[in-house]
Amino acid sequence: MKITIIGTGYVGLPSGVGFAELGQEVYCVDNNAQKIAMLQKGEVTLFEDGLADMLERNLASGKLHFTTDLPFAVKQADIVILAVGTPPHPVTKEADLQYIEAAVKDLAPHLSGYTVVATKSTVPVGTGDKLEKIMRDINPSADFDVISLPEFLREGFALHDFFYPERIIVGTDSERARKLIQQLYLPFKNSRLVFVNRKSSETIKYASNAFLAIKLNYINEIANFCEKSGADIEEVALGIGLDSRIGSKFLKAGPGYGGSCFPKDTVAMSYMARQWGLKMPLVDTAIAENDQRQIDMAQRVLALCPVANAKIAVLGLAFKNGTDDCRTSPAVKIVSELLQHNTDITAYDPQAMQTAQTLLGDKIKYADSAEQAIAGSDIVAVLTEWPEFADINWEKAGQTMKHKIIVDCRNLLPMAEIERLGFEYHGIGRGKK
Ligand SMILES: NC(=O)c1ccc[n+]([C@@H]2O[C@H](COP(=O)([O-])OP(=O)(O)OC[C@H]3O[C@@H](n4cnc5c(N)ncnc54)[C@H](O)[C@@H]3O)[C@@H](O)[C@H]2O)c1
Repeated sequence: MKITIIGTGYVGLPSGVGFAELGQEVYCVDNNAQKIAMLQKGEVTLFEDGLADMLERNLASGKLHFTTDLPFAVKQADIVILAVGTPPHPVTKEADLQYIEAAVKDLAPHLSGYTVVATKSTVPVGTGDKLEKIMRDINPSADFDVISLPEFLREGFALHDFFYPERIIVGTDSERARKLIQQLYLPFKNSRLVFVNRKSSETIKYASNAFLAIKLNYINEIANFCEKSGADIEEVALGIGLDSRIGSKFLKAGPGYGGSCFPKDTVAMSYMARQWGLKMPLVDTAIAENDQRQIDMAQRVLALCPVANAKIAVLGLAFKNGTDDCRTSPAVKIVSELLQHNTDITAYDPQAMQTAQTLLGDKIKYADSAEQAIAGSDIVAVLTEWPEFADINWEKAGQTMKHKIIVDCRNLLPMAEIERLGFEYHGIGRGKK
């Protein structure tokens, strides 16, 4: 089977590499020529565990191709997967469809033979109808089906999630498309392939992300409760999560959610509802509380600074561990807030220094290691849950600090051990302190 993927970012690249690894002939297209040139040389353009090796292997086998030549790649394809960005519109904050609409306008004239055009980008409900109409208007004789194939991978686990998806949701009423997709996912024996109508599929993606955003918001609210009640959120989350009706995932209190999906998808869903005259108070509250949470975290760090113009060591800039993605990262938002208050920030992230610099520029200093960031600081703020931060030799690191204060917004460090070393430790929701 020949697969063309349009958009070679955090979704398109791991998916393309993954399908090639399964033996499919894959053409990855992007209109960013610099990105394609790097990928053609086997250089990864984003950080994802295991991706570099798999990319190299599949380039060498000749199964994986990178190109800016969209017409050529589309002509080859049995399935065209759309994986371009759908960022928030700068004014209305609804999902901006300009990239996906441009992509289907570009590809429509080049469809040849029966082709399934699958939307992996997260798109508002009804977009499948819209894209289908655009393509039919451009190429009325083309033989194609537009299906919804939402993506559920987690950055940092993208390859794992590609090979072991919990479910594959397919939105289509077309029997031909259904057969082709069944064939495509034949190797994924243990994953549940669920066929629904296109609008249900588009809705499932938004409803999933909104639910997770609400769940995170809920556990942060319980963390605040614990701080007053004297309970420990880590123990409470363990106790709650053992109830299978609730489940233990997404019960980690922290600085609020971020990244390229939850913030924009919750806002886009709420926008859709408003267009229909519908209220979504749970989703709207999650959005507002999450924004406030990040400001509260910055205020918490500021309140604990022992001196004016404090030197703050920031550990972590990526929106979560395992990725270099800083889009809507809580860490970046907290740093930006701290910068409004005369602070002197030195930051370190194992993977996201470059992507963070595109957002924060020279407003902060960048260290070569966590230890370098910590040296000479008045206070450390742990903002991303990279496991290596827990492995720092904190005894030694503490000796290089002016004041031994840590605000651990991820409850990552071993609290008892850190306190034994003489640090003033502030986690999240750890009321018994
Ligand atoms: N990142 C995630 O974890 C994730 C998870 C699930 C769903 N999604 C959704 O998947 C979609 C893609 O997300 P992403 O994070 O991979 O985005 P991204 O910004 O990392 O990648 C998008 C790529 O598309 C390219 N592109 C844009 N317009 C193009 C065009 N007309 N022709 C060819 N290439 C074009 C861009 O150059 C870029 O490389 C979004 O709708 C997102 O909401 C993302």
